[in-house]
Formats: sequence, structure tokens, C-alpha cells
Amino acid sequence: MIKFDYKTYMNQEVSLDSLQKEKFIQRLLRDPMAGFINHVIHQEEMEEIKRVSSQIKADSEVLLVIGIGGSFMGSYALKNMFLSPFKTLDTEVIYLGYHLSSKYLKEVLDYIQNKDVSVNVISKSGTTMEISLTYSLIKKELEKRYSKEELQKRIIITTDSQKGKLREEVNQEGYLSFSIPSDIGGRYSLMSPAHLLPLAVMDLDIDNLLLGYKEGLQLIDEAYQYANLRLNLFHQNKLLENFSVYDPSLYYYTEWIKQLLAESEGKNQKGIFPISTVNTRDLHSLGQFIQEGNPILFETVIRILNSEDIKIEDVSLNKINQIVTESVCAAHYNGDTPSIIISLEKLDMRHIGSLSAFFMLAAAFSSYLFDVDPFNQPGVEAYKKEVRKNLEEQEIDFFL
Ligand code: PA5
Repeated sequence: MIKFDYKTYMNQEVSLDSLQKEKFIQRLLRDPMAGFINHVIHQEEMEEIKRVSSQIKADSEVLLVIGIGGSFMGSYALKNMFLSPFKTLDTEVIYLGYHLSSKYLKEVLDYIQNKDVSVNVISKSGTTMEISLTYSLIKKELEKRYSKEELQKRIIITTDSQKGKLREEVNQEGYLSFSIPSDIGGRYSLMSPAHLLPLAVMDLDIDNLLLGYKEGLQLIDEAYQYANLRLNLFHQNKLLENFSVYDPSLYYYTEWIKQLLAESEGKNQKGIFPISTVNTRDLHSLGQFIQEGNPILFETVIRILNSEDIKIEDVSLNKINQIVTESVCAAHYNGDTPSIIISLEKLDMRHIGSLSAFFMLAAAFSSYLFDVDPFNQPGVEAYKKEVRKNLEEQEIDFFL
């Protein structure tokens, strides 16, 4: 169960106009890019994902996942949330393509030298520069080791169902493939093979994620209220939203939320800039600013009520973490930084599925309230265009 507290540390009354709410719900249901709410993954596709994930686990010691932005952040966040850094999997999952660090790529190439490898390339458009570059490097490496038939089992491409370079490659080479539905954009694609396949390889419970997600799609009222509350705060010059967590395993999940909100509503010189803190670490750094600095931010605290506990001198550490969370919210509130509190009964795939659906609904409603399109990202295209131009000027265009 997820609880939303929009009152305790918030000096706001949001009055919701039910007619306007209905108008926004209808707009979302009719939005041609709102596939995340209108059609959720089918059982047959879940079965195919599980079949391919078993094959990868049987064949490979390492799965390389190549993706960026909405094509990688979701599964990456859940990997960091649910897999202990001290646990090694039989098939290790390594992410590439989300930066251009030659140091990192070199380290990965060295690491996989004597290991059996599969690769999952994920790009809806099939034209993203970082992905094309990384894929061409890894493909060359795999071609040195495996026959064409073997590559057909080891290269899995997740892309648009009809168009793009990667889809052409699937058709030509006969590689295994999955589709990202055309009406689901990257950051709304958590419930697509883009994320579910890597998660299944990590043995994370994708059935429960899906169950929670479907439950979370019912949180329309809560998401709409949250979106309105954010807008109110924005009009009171609260221009930054700090997603604050008290367990480091949630750090990359706050990155996922930041991407979802920033790419959805940060347009036409509007939107709230999302940041994040991991406490108690950041109470000893950014906490100073949050308490006494320029009062331009509010916080959304994601709190886990019950976690595996440990006792120190008979006192529950979880209890102490909860007391600290409440105390920090109270102190920040007194310092003119209000907080919204979202409490999860526990941290599991089902709760995270629900919370993710809630944030996707909220991102769409918030964008509508700012009067921008939640599902495009023209600003990202602008940087891609500039990079393309400059690379072409240097006659570096083999992958474009
Ligand atoms: O949310 C989005 O749509 C973006 O972040 C994309 O996922 C990102 O730019 C990667 O795009 P693609 O999957 O086409 O390579």
C-alpha cells in the first residue's frame, strides 16, 4: 500500500475542480502517445520475455545492455534497488551506451574477454548516436567470437516494431527482437520489453511489477492532486523539487523520476527542475542549503515504512531512520521548505510498479497543467542535431 501525505509538512490547500479533472483525464485517455495507460503489455509477450531471458541465462555469463535515457533508466534503477551490490548473478548485467567514456568501455571489453556474452540493444528510434557507436563496437567484438547462427541467439534488439535502422537490421540478419509500442515513449516504457527483459535476466519478479503497475494506474486522483499541488508551489516560487530518499538503493530510482518529470514538463520555459538527495548522507552537504538557503525548493520524500531490520543495542535501526525522516521534514518545514511524503509499506516490485504508474500519471497531468506536451522532447532533439552537424563537419559520420 502507498500513502500520500500532502498536508503534514505543507502549508497548502489545493481545491480541485472536478470538471477540470475530468477534462484532463479524458485528454490523457485520448492522447495518441498515452500507450502507457491505454495498453499494458500482454501475457504472451511476458512469456516470450521469460523464454528469451532463460536462453540468455543459459548461454551467457554476461548480458550487455546498451541503452540511454528512457531506454535504460528504468531497469537500471530497479537493478540498483533490488540487487545487493554484494550479490553476484550467474549472468551479470552490465549497462553501456549511456555515456561516451572510453575508459569505461575499455574496462568492459577487458572484463568480457574470456566470458560468454549476449547483448540487448535498446533504442526506440534506432538513431541515437551513443547507442549506434557502442553497438558497433560490441558487435565487432562479438563477430570475432561467434558464428552468424550463434549471433542470432546472442544479439537481441529492442526497437520500434516497424521502422528505424535497428528494425532493418533485425529483418536482414534475423536477430531476436522485441518491440517498443509506437504509442509509448522511452520514459513511459517501464512496462515494455525495453526494461522487462533485462529485469527478467536479473531474476527480478516482473509479474509482480506488472501487477503493481496495473494497481498504480488506479491512482489517478492522487496523481492529479500531486500535480496540482506542484503547480501551486511553482506559482509560489518553489521552482525546484527535491526527491529525498533515506535508503541509497533508491538513488537511481530518483534519477528515473527526475528524467520522467524533466523531459515531460521542462518545455516552453516552464516546469519544475527536479533534484535529489540521499539521506542521511546529503544532510551533511545539501541539507544546509535546503534548511537555510534560497527558499526556492520543496521536497517529495519517498519513504519505506518497513524494511528488513537490524537492531543496535535492542533499538530498531529502521525506527531510528523513520524518526530522522520525520525530524528532517519538520526542520526543513520550519526553514520554509515544505514536503510531500509518499510512504511505501515496503520495498518490493509490486510497490515500485504502483509508484511508477503514479509518477507517469503525475508527469502527464503536470505537463498538461503547464500546457506542454508530456510525450515529446524537442530540447533533446536540439542537442542531437548540433552534435550531428559538428560530427559531420569533422567527417565522422559512419554511424549516423
Ligand atoms: O524518454 C525518452 O523518450 C528519451 O529519454 C529516450 O528514451 C532517449 O533519448 C533514447 O532514445 P532511443 O530509445 O530512441 O534511443
